[in-house]
Amino acid sequence: MSPGPGRGAAITGWGSALPPRVVTNQDVTTLFDTSDEWIVERSGIHRRHHASGPFVAEADQPPAHPGDGVGSTATLAIEAGREALAQAGVTGADVGLLVLCTTSPDQAVPATSSAVSAALGIAGGAMDLNAACAGFTYGLVTAASLVASGIDRVLLVGAETLTRVTNFADRSNAFLFGDGAGAVVLEAVPGPGCLLGWDLGVDGTLVALLYADHGGPGMAMRGQEVFRRAVRVTVDSAELSLQRAKVGVDEVALFVPHQANSRIMDAVADRLGLPRERIASVIHETGNTSSASIPLALVDAARAGRLADGDLVLLAGFGAGMTWASAVWRWGTQ
Ligand code: ACO
Repeated sequence: MSPGPGRGAAITGWGSALPPRVVTNQDVTTLFDTSDEWIVERSGIHRRHHASGPFVAEADQPPAHPGDGVGSTATLAIEAGREALAQAGVTGADVGLLVLCTTSPDQAVPATSSAVSAALGIAGGAMDLNAACAGFTYGLVTAASLVASGIDRVLLVGAETLTRVTNFADRSNAFLFGDGAGAVVLEAVPGPGCLLGWDLGVDGTLVALLYADHGGPGMAMRGQEVFRRAVRVTVDSAELSLQRAKVGVDEVALFVPHQANSRIMDAVADRLGLPRERIASVIHETGNTSSASIPLALVDAARAGRLADGDLVLLAGFGAGMTWASAVWRWGTQ
């Protein structure tokens, strides 16, 4: 198909990966003074999967050579990407671009997508995209736009090993984070495609609210301020995307928010006027996995049979930066 308005993108395959080590809230109580009740009430998190950190055996920690062991961002991305390619019925040789959304790359140089590209045999280019927890939605808009402009097939992955940048001595946020990956294959289809409306943004004056410095102790976050902003920017961005898509909130079949905190997810759904039953949620099982959280929730919903062809899906994320991103997507291939 030639580039132009007669061509758009559809999702044709999906996959996910979680590290084997499950860390319960009870496990977290061995690190600092907290409780299962407090964590569940404040965040909705019961468990998370860790690829590195104090709960993972030394042999399973991220390897010196990224992509080789169970603990790296590349390893999780490869597993999720392989599953998505298989489900789409294609191989890496059919893929024109790999977009790896991550805020926890395996190395400063090169991009983690290089190792993932080699392992999956990607024929085309590869790049990392870092927009923190808004990363996957930034990636979806980027990938769909590149499919519309001529790349036939894109593998889009959100993958994180946040445990490598978690400050396990900080009880105010260490319980929130987990590791994982989710992936989708986007393919060219005739017509306008499935991306109906979107909004991307950042307020770079708010870097100090959430950051992790090279060589620092790990993530530092002003939790209450992030919470307040998160609800406001996610609602505003979602409303803008719905408006651009010319879609009413009652037409949304599934809301897939960034899985940061179940109270944020519920508050956003309430303010948008979306029934909470329409929220896709895996936060109880995964914690906050940043760029991986939206694809993990989307893939979980697809596997559970919660998505039918033609269903409208609203994705919305926010994160460090502070970034935000939302998109209205039509499920299926038309
Ligand atoms: N266990 C028990 N008590 C704790 C813990 C803990 N782990 N951590 C803090 N407390 C105490 C505090 O000391 C405080 O005590 P005080 O009232 O005596 O001073 C009390 O609990 C309340 O603390 P708050 O920080 O006000 O708790 P809050 O209700 O705001 O919940 C939370 C904290 C869950 C971190 C919340 O602020 C939040 O979810 N914020 C948004 C986080 C988020 O979305 N991050 C993702 C952004 S993007 C990204 O991930 C890259």
